[in-house]
Amino acid sequence: MAAMNIPSSAFCQPEFSFSNTISRKPITLTNKNRPICISYATTSAQESIPAPSEKPQIELQFVGPKPLEDGKYPVDKASAVSGEKLLRNIMSDNKIELYGAYGKVMNCGGGGSCGTCVVEIIDGKDLLNERTNTELRYLKKKPESWRLACQTIVGNKENSGKVVVQRLPQWKK
Ligand code: FES
Repeated sequence: MAAMNIPSSAFCQPEFSFSNTISRKPITLTNKNRPICISYATTSAQESIPAPSEKPQIELQFVGPKPLEDGKYPVDKASAVSGEKLLRNIMSDNKIELYGAYGKVMNCGGGGSCGTCVVEIIDGKDLLNERTNTELRYLKKKPESWRLACQTIVGNKENSGKVVVQRLPQWKK
């Protein structure tokens, strides 16, 4: 194969300067004896900012089972990418209490075999998956709005909206 003999000065300037568009400080490089070859990619400040997630989001509100001193029920908030997580994991990630005293100690770790991760969906049930066979078994005699958090997928990757969850519905009077 024949090698191409191209003088380096065809591509490189012995002296040059350019402006870094991010820092706005000019950079000057000089070498009197021989050309300096530098390759670099320019970027604007706007291009360097990562694009926001385009994935649909589900906003969640978790209502506590007992009112505070002012008579209002405490509400915790969280958000999740649609269709990526179980309700149990979202609550765990956001340090929102899911279990009662018994469930804290005796829960099955999300395996669908203890029935202690009960929640009630007050609003937004259409943004969740259908009840699984495990739920049909554990929640047979419970209200239709009750779900097992470890079986409940929040969103379907395409939908977005708000889901309101009652924690520990069995405690509510
Ligand atoms: S954590 Fe055991 S059934 Fe959900």
